[in-house]
Amino acid sequence: MTENKSYQHWRLEHDDEDIAWLYIDKADATTNVLSREVLEELDELLQSVATERPKGLVIGSAKETGFIAGADIREFTTLGSKQEALTLISRGQRVFDRLAGLDLPTVAMIKGFCLGGGMEMALACRYRIADEDPKTKLGLPEVKLGIHPGFGGSVRLPPMIGAPAAMDLMLSGRLISARAAKRLGMVDYAVPTRRLEDAARGVIRQAPKPAEASGWKGWTNSDLVRPLLARVLRKKVAKKARPEHYPAPYALIDLWSKHMGDPPRMMREEAASVARLAIGETAKNLVRVFFLQEQMKSLGKKGDFAPKYVHVIGGGVMGGDIAAWCALRGLNVTIQDRSHEAIARVIKRAHKLYRKKLKKPLLVRAALDRLMPDIHGVGVARADVVIEAIFEDVDAKQSLYREVEPQMKVGALLATNTSSIPLEVLGSCLAQPNRLVGLHFFNPVAMMQLVEIVKTDTTDAGVVKQAAAFCRHIDRLPLPVRSAPGFLVNRVLMPYLLEAVTLVEEGVPAAVVDREALAFGMPMGPIELADTVGLDICLSVANILGKELGLPVPAQLEEMVNKGRLGRKSGQGFYRYENGKRGNPVIEKNYTPPADLSDRMMMRFLNEAMACLREGIVESEELLDGGVIFGTGFAPFRGGPMNYIDTQGKAVLRQKLQALQSSHGDRFMADAGWGE
Ligand code: NAI
Repeated sequence: MTENKSYQHWRLEHDDEDIAWLYIDKADATTNVLSREVLEELDELLQSVATERPKGLVIGSAKETGFIAGADIREFTTLGSKQEALTLISRGQRVFDRLAGLDLPTVAMIKGFCLGGGMEMALACRYRIADEDPKTKLGLPEVKLGIHPGFGGSVRLPPMIGAPAAMDLMLSGRLISARAAKRLGMVDYAVPTRRLEDAARGVIRQAPKPAEASGWKGWTNSDLVRPLLARVLRKKVAKKARPEHYPAPYALIDLWSKHMGDPPRMMREEAASVARLAIGETAKNLVRVFFLQEQMKSLGKKGDFAPKYVHVIGGGVMGGDIAAWCALRGLNVTIQDRSHEAIARVIKRAHKLYRKKLKKPLLVRAALDRLMPDIHGVGVARADVVIEAIFEDVDAKQSLYREVEPQMKVGALLATNTSSIPLEVLGSCLAQPNRLVGLHFFNPVAMMQLVEIVKTDTTDAGVVKQAAAFCRHIDRLPLPVRSAPGFLVNRVLMPYLLEAVTLVEEGVPAAVVDREALAFGMPMGPIELADTVGLDICLSVANILGKELGLPVPAQLEEMVNKGRLGRKSGQGFYRYENGKRGNPVIEKNYTPPADLSDRMMMRFLNEAMACLREGIVESEELLDGGVIFGTGFAPFRGGPMNYIDTQGKAVLRQKLQALQSSHGDRFMADAGWGE
């Protein structure tokens, strides 16, 4: 091989067969992203390839971490105007157009992540070959950042694999394996790692006809079919996202539907559409959420702790699912409960989870093998992490700790999943109280990414670090919080839920209350959420927090629990449920809800968030926003409660609180954190 002129982010080599091998290796970065500089160098390189005219060009990555993770999202945050955005996007399009226009076979050789702009670059190559290792993931997840593909991806993918599959990938933003991509026609070959280079060489030698959707798939892009399919797609998207909250998927459908018949025009319209979206509020806030997530991830570095064995005590709703999740993520887990039946239920639920997530029987078997029933608790002595998730009872927990602590390895983590007992109280029975930490998981464990890491003033800092690292090992997001009633998530949720129940008590239909919360952007209405969590659990948390924070608890909640109306699990709560499915009560046509309905719920939420920040429950506004978004689902497109307060203006919202206080009472008293 001979190496050419040196570039900062790329390496170009020529082999004996006169094939050019171009490797991306972004300088000073662990992951390849397509920054302005990276694209500029690529442009220059492609011009020299066009003049040199080698037999073929293969583009791969020199980094172990993967192919290309996408465009450089940081550059998006600096965009001041639509024109600036348009310049950035059009430049990317031009470079990929140059790649697509090369008069020689071009191959993207994909190993590891190939996302967003990286996928669009691969689509601009004549052929794509991907490593079939499960670590290789391909996709166009732009919608998750409030935009859609903008470097020609939306123009190139539908004709290649047909509109239904292409639109599904771009609208959902989901990632797929190399084999799945091969089945769809998005890559030409999925091969084992050791065969990648040979396969690339082979394709260049043979130069087969490039992939194109044929038969009915090709037809789905025709002028006749597009308007019909677009209508179906819009309906499907509407079930998940409203256009006023998430405009990108709708913009993508419009773009394809209007312009797929004229690709050059579509290219220009694609750039204009992404430029419009990129400077909008939704995209800005979703990019913020992306960075909040990165920040939370960075709180727990895997390298700080290498747990192999986890021991979970208490195989109930939470303990069982925590144990199953840890085993799914590759750890060896022992699950202890006093009752054989409880353990049997854990294994059954785990089996269901593994079948859904892992699919292949061999992998399911292996995960089940990692989850070991352990009635007598022999796993304690070997465990790197012991998680207690038994009944919410101080005496029971303390007597368990007294038994467990002397058996634990030196340096092993002792964690509790308690949601309401102060760690100071629980730890007082330990020889080393500063080793106890809270790992507060949320229900359902497999769906909720956030884990609150609860610490007291005396919790060992190293222990908190270990706990955060453990969260990263099991792919959860750690959020350090102070040991205080409700921590962060339950505390901000509870006043909002209670206000919703108060509204129902006042005669507002539950479905109207929920409808207003959805209109704000919450993923589920508060009343349905209460039913789903279980009204008994809600009542118990409300009573504990109510006492601590002076929250009035609506009488209706207790009445319903006394009558056995516990929500989804009992078939009847605020709604009726049949086979787990919620009934859909009809709202009277001329019903007018109170004008301040949404404000009443949301202002209590925001007021509590403000109080948490002032009290230092979390360390910063960013962590508060991240924690609340990933723990409660708070409208991601609003960028979190603190970001929302900033955009609306503190003074305006404070006035709202004052108005609500004078008409509805002191539960709306503005927290001192709002300032004067
Ligand atoms: P659960 O009542 O479903 O399960 C408790 C399990 O612990 C039972 O299977 C019981 O047999 C077992 N157990 C009790 N004492 C034991 C002992 N000494 N040794 C071994 N096993 C014992 O309880 P759930 O809901 O799973 O809650 C557990 C903990 O998680 C509590 O501290 C709760 O506050 C907390 N939590 C609960 C959430 C929820 O949504 N249910 C959410 C977050 C935290």
